[in-house]
Amino acid sequence: MTMKAHSRRDFLVGAAKAAALGVSGTAGLSGVSAFATPQTQASATNADARLIPYGAAVRSGALASDMSYRAAIIANCQIIVPEGEMKWPDIHPARGEYRFEKADALVDFARQNAIEIRGHTLAWYGGMPAWTATIGSRAEAELELVGHIETVVSRYRGAIPSWDVVNEPLADWPEDATSLRPSIWMKHLGPDYLPIALRATAAADPDARLVLNEYDVEYKGPRFAARRKALLQLLRSLRDANVPLHGVGLQAHLFAGRVIDRDGLQAFLAEIAALKLDVLITELDVIDYELPGKVSERDALVAAMAGQFLESVCEVVRPKAILTWGLSDRYTWVPTYFKRPDGMPNRPLPLDADLKRKPLFDVIEEYRRKTV
Ligand code: XIL
Repeated sequence: MTMKAHSRRDFLVGAAKAAALGVSGTAGLSGVSAFATPQTQASATNADARLIPYGAAVRSGALASDMSYRAAIIANCQIIVPEGEMKWPDIHPARGEYRFEKADALVDFARQNAIEIRGHTLAWYGGMPAWTATIGSRAEAELELVGHIETVVSRYRGAIPSWDVVNEPLADWPEDATSLRPSIWMKHLGPDYLPIALRATAAADPDARLVLNEYDVEYKGPRFAARRKALLQLLRSLRDANVPLHGVGLQAHLFAGRVIDRDGLQAFLAEIAALKLDVLITELDVIDYELPGKVSERDALVAAMAGQFLESVCEVVRPKAILTWGLSDRYTWVPTYFKRPDGMPNRPLPLDADLKRKPLFDVIEEYRRKTV
C-alpha cells in the first residue's frame, strides 16, 4: 500500500481509538495485528527507572514470525530501534512513494508493550534506494531530504521521542570537521546537509531528541584519534551555529582485535559532556571473527571487550541508553560482513541463538547499574 499523505492526526486518532477501545495487544493504529499478543506487561516488570535503559535493534519480520524471539524482546528491552524498517529503501522506495507498513507495525508493537522506540535513520550515506541517484541539483536534494524528514518525522511525532538524524557523517580518516563521507547529500548540499537535516527534524517534531550517530571513535590509533577530533569539531561548529542537536550516539560495533583507548575516549566524552550533549550507546555488539572458536573462551573475550568499553564510558558520563544491534545471535548483521573463517556462527550479542543469556548480557546489566 502506498500512502503519500498520512497525517499525524490520523496516527494519533488511531492510537486514541485503539486505547479507548481497549484493544492494546490487538489491531493498533495502523491496523496491523501481526504482533498481537495476550502478554503485554512483561517489559514493565523488567524496567527499573534507576537503571540505564537497555534496548536492541529489532527486525519486524522476525517479531511477527518468531514468537520466542518476540517474547525475549518484550522481556528484556525498554527500547527498540528498527534495524532497517525506517531507512530510506524500506520507507521511501521510490520518488514520492512512502511505505509505512513495517515501521508502523514496530511503532504499534512498542506501544502495545510499553517499550520506547527510537528512530533510525534520516540522513545516511549508506543503503540509499536507487532512485536517489537521479537527484540532480542542490535545490532538488534539499527538497527531497527535507520532504522525507517532514513526512517521516511528523508521522511519528509523539510516538518516537529520539531520532538518529545523521548517521556516520565522518569520512573514514577525516582531516577536520569538513572531511565528511561522500553521499548523495554531500554531493549536492556539502556539509550543509547536517544543519538542513537537523533543522528539518526539529521543525517536524520540536520535542524529539536529535542524535548524531557515529562509529570507530573508541580505539587506540591515529585514525580513531583523528575521528574523535573531527567529530568534536563538527559538534562545536553545529553548536556555534545554533543547530538543534541533543546527543551523540556511539555505535560501538566493537572489534575484538582492537584496543579501547581509555584516555582518548574519556577525554572525548568529557568534551561532549561540556557541550551539554547526551551520550547514547546505540549499536553495541562485539565482532568476533578474529576470536578463538571455543565458545566459552570467545564469549568471555566478547564480554571483556564490552566491559572495557562500558567502563571507560561510564566513568565519565552516564549514557542515556545502552542499545545493542540485535538482542540474540539468532538475528545479527555481523555474518553478512564479518563471517568467521572457521565457519562457526558469530556470537556478537547478549543472548545466544537459543535466547540464553551470555556473559555479555551480565556485563551490560552491571554497567546499567553504574552511575557517574
Ligand atoms: C545494518 C543492518 O543491520 C543490516 O541489516 C543492513 O543491511 C545494513 O545496515 N551501522 C548502522 C546500522 O548505523 O544502520 C547498520 O545496520 C550497521 C552499521
